[in-house]
Amino acid sequence: MSSTYRNMEAPTEPYQWQEKYISAGASRRKWAIWGSVIGLIALIAIGVGVGVAVSHKHGGTASNRSSSGSNSNNNSVVPQTNPNDPSTFVKDSRLKQSFYGMAYTPSGSQLPNCNNSLSDVIEDIQLISQLTTRIRLYGADCNQSAVVLEAIKQTKVNLSVFLGNYPIPTDNGVAYKRQRDLIVDAINTYGTDHIAGITVGNEWMLNYLNANGATDPNGPVGNQGAQLLIANIQDTISTLNSMNLPKHIPVGTADAGAYFNTQVLQAVEYGMSNVHPWFANVSIDQAAGWTNEFFQQQNAQPAAALSNHPTMYIAETGWPTESSDAGNANNGPSTASIGNLQTFLDTFVCQANQNGTGYFYFEFFDEVWKDQQFGGVEGWWGLFTSNKTLKGITIPTCS
Ligand SMILES: *[C@@H]1O[C@H](CO)[C@@H](O)[C@H](O)[C@H]1NC(C)=O
Ligand SMILES: *[C@@H]1O[C@H](CO)[C@@H](O)[C@H](O)[C@H]1NC(C)=O
Ligand SMILES: *[C@@H]1O[C@H](CO)[C@@H](O)[C@H](O)[C@H]1NC(C)=O
Ligand SMILES: *[C@@H]1O[C@H](CO)[C@@H](O)[C@H](O)[C@H]1NC(C)=O
Ligand SMILES: *[C@@H]1O[C@H](CO)[C@@H](O)[C@H](O)[C@H]1NC(C)=O
Ligand SMILES: *[C@@H]1O[C@H](CO)[C@@H](O)[C@H](O)[C@H]1NC(C)=O
Ligand SMILES: *[C@@H]1O[C@H](CO)[C@@H](O)[C@H](O)[C@H]1NC(C)=O
Ligand SMILES: *[C@@H]1O[C@H](CO)[C@@H](O)[C@H](O)[C@H]1NC(C)=O
Repeated sequence: MSSTYRNMEAPTEPYQWQEKYISAGASRRKWAIWGSVIGLIALIAIGVGVGVAVSHKHGGTASNRSSSGSNSNNNSVVPQTNPNDPSTFVKDSRLKQSFYGMAYTPSGSQLPNCNNSLSDVIEDIQLISQLTTRIRLYGADCNQSAVVLEAIKQTKVNLSVFLGNYPIPTDNGVAYKRQRDLIVDAINTYGTDHIAGITVGNEWMLNYLNANGATDPNGPVGNQGAQLLIANIQDTISTLNSMNLPKHIPVGTADAGAYFNTQVLQAVEYGMSNVHPWFANVSIDQAAGWTNEFFQQQNAQPAAALSNHPTMYIAETGWPTESSDAGNANNGPSTASIGNLQTFLDTFVCQANQNGTGYFYFEFFDEVWKDQQFGGVEGWWGLFTSNKTLKGITIPTCS
């Protein structure tokens, strides 16, 4: 479950876009997704030991190629001048280090399969490091923190990582502790040099509210869920403190844009917010501006008003290039297409850099398992296809 179910329905503040946002269609979609997610969580909770394969549906080409042992020759995605030294990869002139950050989940990082591979991740890191100097992970299962840090070590790239811990509200802290311990191991092995933060929670508040039939992140139910998450956040902070690390590692949380709880924000050093014009039915020509406005009004300004001034980032924003079914290929006024992805890149990336907005572009490559699990546009947000072919886009060059 390292995926993300961005959702900004039922925002708490009356902004203009909200009018068109609350609609039967959006709600149907929301509940369709949440039905699956809750089902998935339930399956994970009860199914880990019985081999219920809820998330191993990584399709064909990427894993096929990666399992054949990449980097040993120039038939692989990323050529190396020395096949035994991943730091000698040959740069791709189409890639520019224009993105503030990139959202990334290594393929094969979901329980119960856990079959990510270091050679596959090395290749990802070789490509991603040509696009940005920062990545964020969503969870720590399947040893992904260590695998990513090992890949950074071997490629010698300038990449810092916001590690992730993706706890589940209903499992008595099992997922939280499991991932905390994996993160501690990874820090002990790789040190802190490439770690930019630890994000505890991915759409925890959204999950909790949906599971309990509530919508207001700052209402009584929201505050109840917040206390559970805050306990995990505080545990991570005290765990880090007890390690006497050479460098301070900030602890934050990530949630859907309209679902931040104030008490949670008061307990973290940073918040990461999913802001998706696509799911808000915003047309492509307004998408970048809308994203900026939403983030400033709903996230950056409220956070700045708190006494601890948590740093706010956009955790995810992007645009899908296709849908697995015709019904989802259009979202209100917009279309999933490579042309529209290009427009979003051209209107958002350099402008956000200039604004000083920290964002994690969603996402590096298409995720086959999401397509198989959820259909629609869910698996089609990558700059690269799942087999790591750059889509027909031009990466913007920012001055
Ligand atoms: C997987 O690899 C095998 C052997 O390298 C190749 O014959 C086959 O076409 C590949 N399958 C896919 C789906 O790429
Ligand atoms: C992980 O396992 C699945 C299911 O067995 C397989 O299809 C996929 O190729 C594997 N992925 C990787 C990265 O090895
Ligand atoms: C791979 O390609 C690079 C640059 O194109 C070249 O310098 C290198 O020798 C090649 N490596 C192998 C193993 O063929
Ligand atoms: C590495 O990236 C950071 C930004 O994340 C930048 O400040 C720094 O100058 C870069 N270091 C090198 C050696 O390029
Ligand atoms: C975790 O990944 C690192 C780096 O690939 C590896 O050295 C270590 O053995 C892995 N640990 C487990 C339990 O798989
Ligand atoms: C900030 O960036 C967005 C694109 O993300 C752009 O639409 C907006 O005009 C910019 N705002 C300012 C004040 O520069
Ligand atoms: C938003 O897009 C969805 C999916 O196409 C559609 O069902 C819904 O009616 C749209 N809502 C509005 C208000 O346009
Ligand atoms: C990778 O995927 C693209 C688009 O899905 C496809 O056109 C291409 O043939 C694939 N490449 C390989 C090597 O499988």
